Amino acid sequence: MAEPVTSRFLRACAMQPADVTPIWFMRQAGRYMPEYRAIRARYTLLEICRQPELAAEVTMQPVKSLGVDAAILFADILLPLIPMGIRLHFAEGEGPVIENPVRTEADVVVLRDDVAPMESLAYVMETVRLVRRELAGRIPLIGFAGAPFTLASYIIEGGSSRNYVKTKQMMYHAPDTWHMLMGKLARVVADYLACQVASGAQVAQLFDSWAGALSHDDYTAYVLPYSRAVLCDPRLTSVPTIHFATGASAFLQQMKAAGGTVIGVDWRAPLDWAWRQLGADVAIQGNLDPVALLAPRDEIEKRVRRILQQAVGRPGHIFNLGHGILPETPVDNVRAVVDMVHEYTATTRDLTQNLTFKEAIQL
Ligand code: CP3
Repeated sequence: MAEPVTSRFLRACAMQPADVTPIWFMRQAGRYMPEYRAIRARYTLLEICRQPELAAEVTMQPVKSLGVDAAILFADILLPLIPMGIRLHFAEGEGPVIENPVRTEADVVVLRDDVAPMESLAYVMETVRLVRRELAGRIPLIGFAGAPFTLASYIIEGGSSRNYVKTKQMMYHAPDTWHMLMGKLARVVADYLACQVASGAQVAQLFDSWAGALSHDDYTAYVLPYSRAVLCDPRLTSVPTIHFATGASAFLQQMKAAGGTVIGVDWRAPLDWAWRQLGADVAIQGNLDPVALLAPRDEIEKRVRRILQQAVGRPGHIFNLGHGILPETPVDNVRAVVDMVHEYTATTRDLTQNLTFKEAIQL
């Protein structure tokens, strides 16, 4: 399969100049799209994930409808927990429910960490192969997994959480149990991503969606080593990795230390401020507030331009939201943002692409 080396998304990951700024959206396939809702009316989320033809079709829906520069595998971060021995379902309106939460040392001991994802998650790998075939090299395919901390928070809390009390209690009261659990999750996540890459995923994103619940010091002591074990796994060095978290402005440098070719940032801090914290030697992804997609069109445009001005045409910016698209989002607004980013950067890039970072941030 001939891959155009000119993929603007892969060029941006490598901090090389591209014709325009690449854009894709976290959670770009989902309930905000009528095509997705039509399939979801007939199948549950897990049924879609487990049928590669359906999962591949859903992966392609935003590619066909939006004109984005990357596809993201349709799956869920919780899938690799199933072969570890976690029983879960998605309850309408309340999100994931873990039926056997992990609270004690004995609960952690019985979790499997030799899950052999090629077999136990064969349906995900088959989806990767089907999507690659259908994309035929037009745009790259992103594989993904949940980061060890975010997965730990679901299995300890039993579902979504506000204050992560049980998760932090395990850290503080039973650090050995915590470290055993994180070690197992890191191994499974690394194996799972390595299998996605071996099956054809061209980029791997690690979602640490809830890392922002942690202080700088707790992130460094209890989480960073495990995210690093995943992101620095030798089986992932052949592809760019995107390390994403929300609420992590206070420890962006620690996220960078954990690894990632690209650091994904949320909307709370200005993009140029975040990039200065990270330093000029790493690519950045973000960072429009997902709720801004529900604003009037001229307000959306103002905010999109603001982010692009903060990136000042520097190579290594991938436009995205600061978190996933919400179900209430009008599809037309999402499409409009793709066009805004492409059109705006096609006309402004020549002015800035020869500037050094130091010059550019002074603009
Ligand atoms: O195009 C895509 O990006 C979609 C593929 C995708 C899904 N989940 C499918 C899904 C991706 C990348 C995810 C990641 C995911 N899953 C994360 C990390 C990203 C983030 O939003 O922080 C997290 C935390 C989860 C766990 C999860 N899955 C929750 C909290 C929920 C319920 C909340 C919700 O949005 O409904 C899910 C369900 C889920 N996963 C849906 C989809 C399309 C919606 C469920 C449905 O269709 O009924």
